[in-house]
Amino acid sequence: MLRFKVQPQTEACIIPAAQYGHFSEHLGRCIYDGLWADEKSRKKTEEGFRADVIDALKKLHIPVLRWPGGCFADAYHWRDGIGAPQERPVRVNTIWGWPLETNRFGTHEFFRLCELLGCDAYLAANMGSGTVQEMADWVEYVTSFYDTTLTKERRKNGRQEPWRLPYLGIGNEVWGGGGYMTPDHYADLYRNWQNFAKPYDHKPMMKIACGANSGDYHWTERMMARVDASMMQGLSVHYYTVPSGIWEHKGDAVQFTDEEYLETIRKALYMEELLSKHSEIMDRYDPEKKVALVVDEWGSWYDVTPGTEEAYLYQQNTMRDAILAACTLHVFHRHTDRVKMANLAQTVNVLQALILTEGDRMLCTPTYHVFDLFQGHQDAALLTIAGDVPQINDLPAISVIASCKDDGMLLTICNPQLTEQTAAFDCSALHVRAIQNAKLLTGDCRAHNTFDHPDVVCPVAFDGCLLEKEQLTMTLPGCSVVAVMLR
Ligand code: AHR
Repeated sequence: MLRFKVQPQTEACIIPAAQYGHFSEHLGRCIYDGLWADEKSRKKTEEGFRADVIDALKKLHIPVLRWPGGCFADAYHWRDGIGAPQERPVRVNTIWGWPLETNRFGTHEFFRLCELLGCDAYLAANMGSGTVQEMADWVEYVTSFYDTTLTKERRKNGRQEPWRLPYLGIGNEVWGGGGYMTPDHYADLYRNWQNFAKPYDHKPMMKIACGANSGDYHWTERMMARVDASMMQGLSVHYYTVPSGIWEHKGDAVQFTDEEYLETIRKALYMEELLSKHSEIMDRYDPEKKVALVVDEWGSWYDVTPGTEEAYLYQQNTMRDAILAACTLHVFHRHTDRVKMANLAQTVNVLQALILTEGDRMLCTPTYHVFDLFQGHQDAALLTIAGDVPQINDLPAISVIASCKDDGMLLTICNPQLTEQTAAFDCSALHVRAIQNAKLLTGDCRAHNTFDHPDVVCPVAFDGCLLEKEQLTMTLPGCSVVAVMLR
């Protein structure tokens, strides 16, 4: 039996809601046929969104959404996506498979989407093929209440009041497709660009610089040496879990061995080392932790589903992804002092999606259910879990996070092992009296939802836990995620 004690933190530490952020790019069927409905769809709202997808996403209380890319951001010119839809230029999405890009979904549609979801907007500016002026104009168009020509244009296009823009990214993967730059060159460019990114509503706007490709610590070192917190409030990092570690043959999304499952979770947990090492460097330059580490893009990346367009990055999502998501969210929470935002790639139909669609049908993936079970951690006070976690199969035996908000305590536990485990939590320091509810998500690591059977993997009431004299004990099935809410 694994034994733990749950205790309040000595210094209050709030889990930033934005660690539960998401990322949506003009890529494959994420926007068109994902968030935005196909013309003929019976699921189309009057405004054009996909009603069933929006309804499901609303339930997650998404804190922030990043758009329009990714790599696409570096080919995107925001003026293409405003004005009368039939007059918007039609271009080709040369980044992701060369389909026609109608620009039907643009700035107004994105901000309306954020309104519908109740989330903050995070725009990624085009540094690759755009200009400083273009970025400055976009920020003005979005945030201005002055009677400028751009403000009048926005009003003519149907939006009177400025929108809130709390986050702006400047440059995406500039070490790769975003410009093949060296960190020093980018740092100097960034200093210039950020200077003209001015929110016209004079409200706080976090400027986020492009950070490292996973373990490129030199990048972080150079950025921190050359740009300070007055110019950069966030520095990003991108890390994707590729089971084989080889981009050409990443591994299948549903057919894998138990050993490949374990290896995928080990690779996902590399996030722990990444965040520790990047934070260590940032601590040296910024001991007051003014610059946030922003995990702009994360999640699993497998070979595309056979028979689908290679460039559209459509993949199934199994219990393995649920475990990956649960363990990774827990890692973010343990790095709350530095990691202020993280965005899973990508909301619908792309990579580790929350939702998959096919025609007018949709399903919630196992990953969706983890975000649902964990949402009580958003903006909650992190608690300390004291106790040793042994390694089994080169992985932590289990992963646990506890937080409290109002008068409730949420305990989430992930058992990445393939065998059952028992655990006991001494909650006496929190004075909890009763289990309000307990939910379990489990299944074979390859289990997944299909359009014909959308509820194969979904949370059920968990009767394997007991609270007696403030001691919570439980038996966790192999490959499972549990969420217990206590009062
Ligand atoms: O999420 C898919 C792509 O992965 C993004 O466009 C890019 O930023 C990253 O390489």
